[in-house]
Amino acid sequence: MNRTPQTLIAIVSTAIAIIAVSALGAFYFRSENRLREEAAAVSMAAALDEELRTAVAQVGLTAIDLGAAPSPEKVALGEALFYDKEISGNRDISCATCHHPLLHSGDGLALPFGTGARGLGTSRQIAVDRAFIPRNAPEIFNRGAPQWTTMFWDGRVTQEFDHFKSPAGDALPPGLESPLAVQAMFPPTSRDEMRGRAGDLCREKEGQPQVSNTFTVKTTAGGSEPAVEINEVALVDDSNLPEMWDILMARVMAIPEYRELFSAAYPDMPLSELGFEHAANAIAAYEIAAFSFDDSPWDRYLAGEDDAMTAKAKRGALLFYGEAGCSNCHSGILMTDQRYHNIAAPQFGPGKDSSGLDFGRYLQTGDPVDRFAFRTPPLRNVALTGPWLHNGAYASLEEVIQHHLSPADSLSAYQGEALSADLRETLRDNSAVVAGVLSTLDPLLAAPPELDRQQVAELLEFLNALSSPSAADLAYLVPESVPSGLPVAD
Ligand code: HEC
Ligand code: HEC
Repeated sequence: MNRTPQTLIAIVSTAIAIIAVSALGAFYFRSENRLREEAAAVSMAAALDEELRTAVAQVGLTAIDLGAAPSPEKVALGEALFYDKEISGNRDISCATCHHPLLHSGDGLALPFGTGARGLGTSRQIAVDRAFIPRNAPEIFNRGAPQWTTMFWDGRVTQEFDHFKSPAGDALPPGLESPLAVQAMFPPTSRDEMRGRAGDLCREKEGQPQVSNTFTVKTTAGGSEPAVEINEVALVDDSNLPEMWDILMARVMAIPEYRELFSAAYPDMPLSELGFEHAANAIAAYEIAAFSFDDSPWDRYLAGEDDAMTAKAKRGALLFYGEAGCSNCHSGILMTDQRYHNIAAPQFGPGKDSSGLDFGRYLQTGDPVDRFAFRTPPLRNVALTGPWLHNGAYASLEEVIQHHLSPADSLSAYQGEALSADLRETLRDNSAVVAGVLSTLDPLLAAPPELDRQQVAELLEFLNALSSPSAADLAYLVPESVPSGLPVAD
């Protein structure tokens, strides 16, 4: 059979038409599908937001209130004091050593080294005859928020209405402005942290810093010995806090630049009437100015920005405020109930009394149910502030979550892999100690939720969404120098 060119053309064009129509059809079908999928995703996202916003509303969460901004003059004074080793007995350690901007207001160590040690963070070297500080140096973010009523892992500083309770009892001077300011009265009085031991020799005031690294020198300078001074703060009786504060104020006020800074911060008060409480108020002012942040994805979400967090982090938040039960303790605007719970953290380090253990809140109340209970930590910027727990037991947040999900197993299995060798040696993992710790495990963790890997990953994503981008690099905070002239970086 012969085909005419016309028939051929007709066949070819029909074929082309069929192909074109089906391609177009497929295209429409596909894009319709995509639109449907997109619509489904949008409504799922909306449903997730609705669910989360309902959960947040149910627990009454609002955006964090960071409190009033302190005066710039007080902040300037507080900044100088926070970085100045002059307020440590041996002139070798400042607040910043353990709460450093480069380490997100902590020290990056499981347990800190106090006076006598050298260096910062993981390169810090302990002096041969000094011990670890028994507890982890916490981050100090957002401690100016008016909701804060407790300080320290065991809450030994608290605010009750307009009254402060502290280890100083009646010796605490009036005029302190917040629990944060009350807290600042104490590190310089702690022998191991900042004060030093009777017989310690400190850096001399002028000239090159001259200090024995190991503090084995027990005599004053003489002959060809390097010039050093007696640490006069360390000679004061342990119970005489007011005298320590007076001596530290005298030291600071001997420096002309401090007299100017104090006059500017307290223009209505004669210098002679100022006490260490005024230094403490200024230190608190600086901590507030330097370490307050409310721009984490979670904070932006709470402020109304639906797009601030990933869907995974939102699912993590739902778990946190729901099934996983985290907000039973990490509750409220600060993500802590400011109460005390035993979550069965492992025991190691020097301990807080002759038992070599750290009984936590029990040391304050004497109530046996408080044994091994520590104040629930707040969680903003938590991903930046490891190692975690009251003694830095864990160096990964995932392990911290897993610990909460099976405290007894986790405690029994704990080997301290992430600890330095000398700290690992102090691990108290015998069955008596383990049983003792578990005997007061918080009832809220008695039947922890069973979460799968996906859910743990979602919780982790949520914890990561608590980090403020503007807190990621705080190097800009470190001043170049301090009024005493003592070195800032080391
Ligand atoms: C040797 C390290 C070290 C030094 C120096 C130090 N701290 Fe601390 N800081 C710690 C440790 C450890 C804790 C927790 C102690 C506890 O809870 O028993 C702590 C707790 C705190 C807290 C309580 C946070 C909270 O929520 O409970 C604040 C605030 C604080 N320090 C500020 C300061 C200031 C201000 C200075 C200087 C005046 C200072 N620290 C000096 C290690 C140190
Ligand atoms: C029973 C109260 C309670 C519950 C429930 C709880 N926590 Fe905790 N959490 C604590 C306490 C108390 C600590 C500190 C314990 C210690 O150091 O000994 C802590 C520590 C942490 C830390 C370490 C923070 C730091 O700065 O060291 C993280 C992270 C954490 N919890 C997350 C969670 C998550 C996620 C959940 C839910 C799966 C959860 N917590 C449930 C009480 C609780």
